[in-house]
Amino acid sequence: MFEFMRIAPLLQAPPIGKALEVKGWVRTRRDAKGDFSFLEINDGSCLANLQVVADSTLFNYEGEIKRLTTGCAVRVAGDLVASPAKGQAVELRCRELTVYGWAPAETYPLQKKHHSFEFLRSMTHLRPRTNSLAAVARVRSALSLALHRFFAERGFCYVHTPIITTNDCEGAGEQFTVTALDMNKLPSRDGLVDFSRDFFGRQASLTVSGQLEAEVYALALGNVYTFGPTFRAENSNTSRHLAEFWMVEPEMAFCDLTDDINLAEEFLKYLLASVRSECGAELDLFCKFIDPALHDRLAMVLDQDFARITYTEAVERLRKAGRTFDFPVQWGADLQSEHERYLAEEVFKRPVVVTDYPRVIKPFYMRINDDNRTVAAMDILVPGIGEIIGGSQREERYDVLLARITENGLRQADYEWYLDLRRYGSAPHAGFGMGFERLVQFATGMANIREVIPFPRTPGAAAL
Ligand code: 4AD
Ligand code: MG
Repeated sequence: MFEFMRIAPLLQAPPIGKALEVKGWVRTRRDAKGDFSFLEINDGSCLANLQVVADSTLFNYEGEIKRLTTGCAVRVAGDLVASPAKGQAVELRCRELTVYGWAPAETYPLQKKHHSFEFLRSMTHLRPRTNSLAAVARVRSALSLALHRFFAERGFCYVHTPIITTNDCEGAGEQFTVTALDMNKLPSRDGLVDFSRDFFGRQASLTVSGQLEAEVYALALGNVYTFGPTFRAENSNTSRHLAEFWMVEPEMAFCDLTDDINLAEEFLKYLLASVRSECGAELDLFCKFIDPALHDRLAMVLDQDFARITYTEAVERLRKAGRTFDFPVQWGADLQSEHERYLAEEVFKRPVVVTDYPRVIKPFYMRINDDNRTVAAMDILVPGIGEIIGGSQREERYDVLLARITENGLRQADYEWYLDLRRYGSAPHAGFGMGFERLVQFATGMANIREVIPFPRTPGAAAL
């Protein structure tokens, strides 16, 4: 006789007068004079709570309802009425309340209204019960759906690239080995571990990027993308690095660097516009408690064209900056996060696309420009984060690619399949990778990347 509803749709179009049932967790209980209690119930479907009014005529009022504390799981059933008081439009007049699970106040850690993010990190199994971490989870989910929609609307095919791989796409040697060998009895040959006796008959690792495999499918299906977890054993203990992070990587045949940049700009704008229209309450929460400049920052991305400069121009700008950076600025050295943020935050005050980096600091697959010194690469830098996207046009010329493989000290035999893509039906193609957590950071204003992935993995930390 009670109709079950989740709180989000209930509050969106309140069916006043209806007998409803809601299931969720108690956020607060307040006892009023005159023998009744107010309960705030949250079921995770949205930020807002439902106010429930329970009075002493209920048979379990003294025995259970007055013992409810923050975190208890309950079912409440009753009649939805317009609320006579300010603060909420509707409330549920309780006729039945069932307790599913108690949460003893003496031990349940989430009692305060505001806990520090550092404290919450020590309990990743409980932190999604807070308003801010639940809001991040909903934004993350909305962004994942939006990215699939973006590519589906443009006819891209979603390809599942492997997590276990035998290549090192970025060539940075930051891979985690995947092995089934007995670590206490490693087989060796010539003083080295003999991986020929391992599960795959050779050394395998967790992927750092799905790009090379995405190229295989782009050169058959035209436009594809992959979206999945990637892994880097990079000892960077910063607020923007994870050892396990999600990356979305589109790859397009018959596409050059300019097409690639245009798609990346359109993509970033589409995603942020989706969050703005679908997660308004969450953004207001972040703006209030996390980052007061959030709405302005989103508008700054959505309402302007991105700036576009070459790496060489960027180096000139930085040299003329009239300030000393921790890392010296020098043509041929990679841009550091302080340089990237200076360009986006102070010089252009909007996202900046930096193109044509020196070949020596970029991976083997990037297309060599006519000057023979730079490659057709692009990084997109945004205020507050620095690099959010990295991409390039790929080297489609067989001879040039082979020379790059050799020059980078890679074994040709390991890349024959990749060279085949250039031996047979090679075509200009390009793509990029966007760090999904950096996007969620940008969309929420969260200062630390550890707050935007449910279970962060960083150097020295992989509990739960
Ligand atoms: O610039 P990266 O290393 O590019 C690639 O992996 C290319 N294969 C992508 C492609 O062209 N298909 O990484 C791409 C993005 C970065 O711009 C950054 O946003 C993110 O991935 N990223 C990380 N995010 C969190 N933690 C880390 N350790 C990250 N390393 C890179
Ligand atoms: Mg990069």
